[in-house]
Amino acid sequence: MRACWAIPLLLSGPGCHPSMADNPVTASLGPEAPFWWGVATSPYQVEDPGEGVFATDWDLFYERGHLRDARGDGVGSWTQMARDQEALVELGVSHYRFGIEWARVEPEPGLIDRDALAQYASYARSLREAGIEPVVCLWHFTFPDWATDLDRPDANGWLHPLTGDRWGAYVGAVADALGPHVSLWAPQNEPKAQAMAGYFLGIWPPGVSGDLGLVAAQTDAAIERFNEAAAILRSRDPDARILTIQNQVAFEAQAWDALGVFTRIGDQYNHAHLDGVHHQADYVGFNYYYRRKASPFAAVEETWPRGIRLAIEDLEARYGKPIIIMENGIGTENDRLRQAYLRAHLYQVEAARRNGSDVRGYFAWSLVDNYEWALGWDVQYGLYAHQEGLLVPKESAHLYARFIRGDESP
Ligand code: BGC
Repeated sequence: MRACWAIPLLLSGPGCHPSMADNPVTASLGPEAPFWWGVATSPYQVEDPGEGVFATDWDLFYERGHLRDARGDGVGSWTQMARDQEALVELGVSHYRFGIEWARVEPEPGLIDRDALAQYASYARSLREAGIEPVVCLWHFTFPDWATDLDRPDANGWLHPLTGDRWGAYVGAVADALGPHVSLWAPQNEPKAQAMAGYFLGIWPPGVSGDLGLVAAQTDAAIERFNEAAAILRSRDPDARILTIQNQVAFEAQAWDALGVFTRIGDQYNHAHLDGVHHQADYVGFNYYYRRKASPFAAVEETWPRGIRLAIEDLEARYGKPIIIMENGIGTENDRLRQAYLRAHLYQVEAARRNGSDVRGYFAWSLVDNYEWALGWDVQYGLYAHQEGLLVPKESAHLYARFIRGDESP
């Protein structure tokens, strides 16, 4: 049993609860804890509907002809959780980040599907039994169809009246069902990125272009819901630990932009949601993929490993909390590129740690090639391929396993 010495460092929530040191998870969350080696997925990107009868805003958006591919049966991760777990064990990860599909759990407002919750709970239990700590995300871009009004974007998603009414009950129901097996919770994944894609770029539901007012309103509403979720999770379990998942983009200063407008907007983009929720978080988690350059004509995204280290340092300086990389990866058919990407980014993470940054974990995106939102099935982020119902490891999966085992350094 460990003493609670690490707690002041960790918590912005309740103090040292008597049961905390007895809980094997929370007792080992201090800076001395082993590094979290993880991998991540999201429900809409990998699950099949199974027996569930429900729909999300993405299904409605697809039916209206706005998306190139349907999600369909995903990679079958709802009916084949045991298969996925085998791959996780093979990789040797200590943590697995997966998400809950709100529409599945609550197919109609107020109607909670207890069987679906029980299946998620048994997955979390089974992961723990296999020595893999679950990290559960409660919202990853999708809303139930009943919280969707594609024709009234100002009353859609986080701004839909039913979202405000039902979110707390949904979070409470998940916390009750999974709480015995889960201590690490991320209320939301990248709400700002979703608001930008849905209300500014117009490529995600509800398909609105150029409405920065709605981007801000959605983000503000998401902040409220995040804080509500954190309070509910802590009230159910004082040992609950809350993580943010922020999309962090590196913005390159441009010679033509002498006033730094581009980087200032980028800075606002990176921090808008976190500024509103960091006080509720035990860990500041972020996703990092690339650097964005702007020319007066177009924005270009490029791989830039150093950006992950700068993101760590920026977020640590700004919020003063332990840092977790919640997603990092590259969408490519070329697995050699993926291996180089993984190695180069982990090298930067290591460099930050050696320099004293308090980085507690790293999650590769993603376990398996999956449904890449508006880009459909053509972009491959997986360490595993999905072939005829099986998960087949790529060379990058073997490389990641060697990093995790310590057989090789990045
Ligand atoms: C999202 C994932 C997505 C990944 C790659 C992240 O921002 O959370 O859902 O697949 O980017 O585009």
